[in-house]
Amino acid sequence: MKLTIIRLLECSAQDEIDLAKIWPEYFSTSLMLSDAHRIYAAKFNDRLLGAVRVTLAGSEATLDSLRVREITRRRGVGQYLVEEVIRDNPDITGWQMPNDGVEDIGVMNAFMQAVGFEVQSNGWKK
Ligand code: ACO
Ligand code: MG
Repeated sequence: MKLTIIRLLECSAQDEIDLAKIWPEYFSTSLMLSDAHRIYAAKFNDRLLGAVRVTLAGSEATLDSLRVREITRRRGVGQYLVEEVIRDNPDITGWQMPNDGVEDIGVMNAFMQAVGFEVQSNGWKK
């Protein structure tokens, strides 16, 4: 089965199990989904391998909690995820991601630049 990027509109029981592995620090009840508060996830063989939260406000969007599960890193999952999020929101002219909670700023700098963002003092923007 191929890797797909999906916007979660509701979480199945399996999605909740997978999201708990991606984000052990979050309780699923804290993951509110709406038109302005979205979660996009990378899915392979019915399992979520990575996810990102997206908050939309007018023509601006903020990414946070971007994480790909460690076992599947460096295989293009993160890049496909971010590219599809941007493609799914063509009216957004400004993107940002603060660096709060990021495990390794050096790795994230390399990744975010690979997906077209610029490094800022408090995160990344495009
Ligand atoms: N070192 C250098 N460059 C890198 C690295 C790395 N470790 N990882 C990615 N890149 C760059 C490379 O240019 C890479 O292209 P290449 O492999 O052809 O050289 C490009 O980015 C694309 O890499 P992907 O394979 O698409 O990235 P991946 O799927 O591994 O995801 C990510 C990257 C999201 C940064 C992943 O490493 C990750 O999840 N890290 C932890 C992020 C984190 O701290 N999240 C916590 C947020 S807070 C919270 O969630 C509550
Ligand atoms: Mg990967």
